[in-house]
Amino acid sequence: MDAAGVLDEIGEGARTDLTVGEHVMAIVLPSGSQGAYAEQIVVPVESVVRVPAGASDVEASTLPMNGLTARLALDLLALKPGQTLAVTGAAGCCGGYVVQLAKVDGLRVVADASDKDEQLVHDLGADIVVRRGDDVADRILATVPGGVDALVDGAVQNALVLPAVRDGGQIAAVRPFAGETVRGITVHQVLVASYLREQGKLDRLRQLVEDGAVTLRVAGSFPAEQAPEAHRILEAGGTRGRLVLEF
Ligand SMILES: NC(=O)c1ccc[n+]([C@@H]2O[C@H](COP(=O)([O-])OP(=O)(O)OC[C@H]3O[C@@H](n4cnc5c(N)ncnc54)[C@H](OP(=O)(O)O)[C@@H]3O)[C@@H](O)[C@H]2O)c1
Repeated sequence: MDAAGVLDEIGEGARTDLTVGEHVMAIVLPSGSQGAYAEQIVVPVESVVRVPAGASDVEASTLPMNGLTARLALDLLALKPGQTLAVTGAAGCCGGYVVQLAKVDGLRVVADASDKDEQLVHDLGADIVVRRGDDVADRILATVPGGVDALVDGAVQNALVLPAVRDGGQIAAVRPFAGETVRGITVHQVLVASYLREQGKLDRLRQLVEDGAVTLRVAGSFPAEQAPEAHRILEAGGTRGRLVLEF
């Protein structure tokens, strides 16, 4: 669902200040096609912005889908500066961007990490890092008595994370939420396809990379012919950052 490369052609009537030959990145909806798994793709003009200055196409291609997912999750929660957000899966692509964008928004962030990812999640900007696991809600509650205002469940732990959220608080679920909600907690379903044409938000992410507030993380890049190997690595779990195929 994301791509970066050289802008080949601009459709007739498209309103854009982009020019042919520029390096651009895009969010790509794979409905009925192979999405970004192609040498050439055609996307709506609102799905495309310039790559961040200084970033390679490989680096830039890791941003659009997960960056916009993180932005959407935070927009749905609509917290105010100073409120407290918990993030599970914080070392992951989506969770990592949630941590970084939440700090830009002025939120206090409690994030989970394994022992080996603790420094990484601190470096992303989390104010408090708790050990990940099925008991993550207990650990969050121990640091924020009464519970956090909201939680983004990047690790897809569903009902396990509910106890970490205060009465009347909110959860942003990146997969359909499995479980009953309790204590007036609202669960928002995050569907990044709804931000397919949010060019301004994608361009803001570009700016934040250039400002150093958002980090591009490449786990590895492969020639397209090695896609099966990339998928095997992805399925084995534990990748930090995004795997990229080069066409
Ligand atoms: N709804 C949407 O529009 C949308 C958009 C983007 C992403 N997503 C979904 O968001 C999820 C995260 O995506 P991603 O790209 O960030 O994946 P990712 O980079 O693999 O990150 C997931 C993180 O969660 C950790 N994790 C997995 N299971 C866990 C558990 N039981 N307890 C604690 N931590 C656990 C992973 O650790 P390990 O690597 O060690 O397992 C990893 O650090 C995926 O399910 C993806 O499909 C949804």
